Amino acid sequence: MIRARLMARFYDRMMRTAEERFLADWRRDLLGSLSGHVLEIGSGTGLNLPHYPATVTRLVLSEPDPFMRRQLQAKVADRARNSVQVVDCAAEKLDFPDASFDTVVSTLVLCSVRDPQRALAEIRRVLRPGGNLAYFEHVAADNPRTLRWQRLVEPAWKFLAGNCHLTRHTHESIRQAGLDPVRTEHVAMTPAPMLVRRAVKGLARRVPAGAASAPHLAKV
Ligand SMILES: C[S@@+](CC[C@H](N)C(=O)[O-])C[C@H]1O[C@@H](n2cnc3c(N)ncnc32)[C@H](O)[C@@H]1O
Repeated sequence: MIRARLMARFYDRMMRTAEERFLADWRRDLLGSLSGHVLEIGSGTGLNLPHYPATVTRLVLSEPDPFMRRQLQAKVADRARNSVQVVDCAAEKLDFPDASFDTVVSTLVLCSVRDPQRALAEIRRVLRPGGNLAYFEHVAADNPRTLRWQRLVEPAWKFLAGNCHLTRHTHESIRQAGLDPVRTEHVAMTPAPMLVRRAVKGLARRVPAGAASAPHLAKV
């Protein structure tokens, strides 16, 4: 409880350098051309909020942590956008009908969910066929030495940082969940600490039933 409270209280301050150096740009690139009905999972304190364009006609920000949610609600109130709704729900049990969103957004969340497979199945379910998961997530290192350190540090890191895992292969889980990566990019979150530096960002599409997989447009 105290850890969650502190994490929410200091989250924006902890993220400030990364936001200034690269994260704000990533958020703008990922979100700037979205439209229609959008669900964001694990919205935290709402750092994505300024980057949603007016073409998003319905925006649902979901956040299960009450301390994070309180800050999120305050930011939403400040921006006074009627089309924004804040809800209390975990990604593993999204309280929405099938095929109800054009896009689901996940930024730095799939490292922390209790059950990534369950969360991705839920994301797929609420996306309309042809809709996209838009994401960036830090993932396991490909360098064996860094990976060894990640494995060593992970138990303590999870405890201190809201269940954040260092060694997840989120890009593979996305594909296994039946979401087809139409754009995937491996990127470095420099100057973040080595343990959380390797990241993946992109779009993954819920392929309409009976359609062939979309070609991979870019893989870096
Ligand atoms: C590192 S923060 C990222 C916040 C925000 N998405 C961002 O880009 O700054 C991780 C967030 O995931 C949320 N989270 C943890 N477990 C979750 C779950 N099972 N379902 C949805 N969100 C979860 C946390 O409460 C926290 O707000």
